[in-house]
Amino acid sequence: MITPFRLHAALLTPLSNERMAWHPHGALVVDERGSIAWRGDEAALPETFLPLPAMRSPHVLLPGLIDVHVHLPQLDCRGKFGASLLEWLDRFIYPEEMRFADEAVARDVARRFHAALIAAGTTTAMVYGTVHERATDIAFEEAERAGLRIILGKVLMDREAPEELLESAIDGLSATERLIERWHRKTPRLWYAVTPRFALSCTTQMLTGAAVLAKRHDTYVQTHCNESGGEIARVAELFPEAAHYTGVYEAAGLLTPRTVLGHNIHTDDEQLAMLRAHGCAVAHCPDSNLFLGSGRFPIEMHEHHGVHFALGSDVGAGTTLSMFHIMHAMSHVQARSLHPFEPLYRATLGGAAALGLEDSIGSLDAGKEADMIEVEIEQSFCRGKRLQDLSAQEIASVLVYRSANQRVGRVWVGGEKISERGGTEDVPTPSV
Ligand code: GUN
Ligand code: ZN
Repeated sequence: MITPFRLHAALLTPLSNERMAWHPHGALVVDERGSIAWRGDEAALPETFLPLPAMRSPHVLLPGLIDVHVHLPQLDCRGKFGASLLEWLDRFIYPEEMRFADEAVARDVARRFHAALIAAGTTTAMVYGTVHERATDIAFEEAERAGLRIILGKVLMDREAPEELLESAIDGLSATERLIERWHRKTPRLWYAVTPRFALSCTTQMLTGAAVLAKRHDTYVQTHCNESGGEIARVAELFPEAAHYTGVYEAAGLLTPRTVLGHNIHTDDEQLAMLRAHGCAVAHCPDSNLFLGSGRFPIEMHEHHGVHFALGSDVGAGTTLSMFHIMHAMSHVQARSLHPFEPLYRATLGGAAALGLEDSIGSLDAGKEADMIEVEIEQSFCRGKRLQDLSAQEIASVLVYRSANQRVGRVWVGGEKISERGGTEDVPTPSV
């Protein structure tokens, strides 16, 4: 239970990928359950809410940002150039993930990772851990301590990775089931995602076993698909009976309405129709795709097939946890100018929809959880005007296209203030 309050601020919140509600002189009421009781123009605030304690913000209030694809153990690997995906995994990522056998490393990175998410204004994230059961426990503990909404899973791999990161399918699946029992829906803010890393590093036994667990416990599923040419060629060699990469996951039973597939760049009509039929969502990670030279995400094809997609940072192939930067990067991988409402939607309400959580988060609507952030708008953009004189398009435009300068202020999850002050990219120094 929290103390109800009303917050007066300029409010911007998505209605769809094309429409935003903008209240330059807005107000929002949070009830004792941490839900939004009312949102609108302050002049229209019902009298019943007037006795509540009032706060005022000089900044823009947005729904908390949502990152649907990010790797916790890769926080310190951002920006390590490694040419293509498979070479980069071998040179930088697998050696880094091995370090998580050490609890002190796992604790240190997990703490800094969640602090950095908050500083960037991200209140919900779908997260890959490492192969280590204990490190995954620690990641959940730190997620709970941070107060964030986190969907997380231990990575599964039983082939084509360094020996130290491999385990048998039986061992990996048993550890997964123990973790599900300990963490899935332990609090209203924590969920488990069964996490076979990608088809290349998993046998059929591992993939099908993962699907059984996800079904048995009604968890999320996350994995990678159709990211790079080298990866796709190797998957075709390993699964000669499959018509394509997506077909490998379908045969294993991993395509569900709670499955989020990372990347899906080099896809086609048949594979997209399959994703649509199973109600899967896709994580579009433009900054990562630019960094690894993976290719251009086909937005129009996903739209044409009605396959829902949302934005992911994919740190550490993504270079930052800032979803403002990721929104901006989305425009870089398209050969056309992108209206700023589109990326803003994909990192808020669109992210919530990808996770099946659109009824509870993603926008500042009455009845939803009060997950919200304050963002400072640069004075030089306003050119002497007041923030309140700008249009919704102007506000979205400065948020997305001057992404390098965003400063996040207070952050709330479920009406609970979890941070007084964020920052641009405030990743504390490693202590290990
Ligand atoms: N495919 C399999 N593992 C990974 C990973 O860690 N990062 C990216 N970008 N792609 C992957
Ligand atoms: Zn990834």
